[in-house]
Amino acid sequence: MTSIALIGYMGSGKSTIGCQLASQNHRKFIDLDNEITKFEGREIATIFAQEGEEYFRQVEEKMLNHFCEDNVIVATGGGIVMNQNSRDVLKNCFQTIWLEVSYSVVEERLQLDDTRPLWKQSKEQRQALFERRQGLYEECADIRVSVNERSPKEIATEIERSISFI
Ligand code: S3P
Repeated sequence: MTSIALIGYMGSGKSTIGCQLASQNHRKFIDLDNEITKFEGREIATIFAQEGEEYFRQVEEKMLNHFCEDNVIVATGGGIVMNQNSRDVLKNCFQTIWLEVSYSVVEERLQLDDTRPLWKQSKEQRQALFERRQGLYEECADIRVSVNERSPKEIATEIERSISFI
């Protein structure tokens, strides 16, 4: 069975919905950022600060590849689509679901967040990044699901209906 990848901007709910989807379907849930943190033995913010974004994207790509044939549900990091190789893996090896969120919802959800290095930019930069990524999420997605003002359970159930769990 093909693994499922959830993609979408920071704060779109990939981990929460991935967990819900996995438990509804008795499948294993993987949070890619947690796997990277374990593998590297340091926090994402530290990896960005010490090695830079390019290095992080390479580790992220390796980790994504690692889970592609494992029949799991993977919550990816919001920037995974910035890497061409990762986009190819998402397109070729996963059933990829885009959790589509509006920018205003993200701003509200992450207003107190200080853990994400790319969220610490100015609001204009964060919004520009959001706009830039929309087309890339669309390019990789087999299915897109709107997540604004809906519960994780509702969203997971919609995903379940759209995908054939064998
Ligand atoms: C990132 C999103 C984060 C994490 C890292 C980079 C991004 O994951 O991978 O901080 O570039 O958007 P979430 O989408 O889970 O916040």
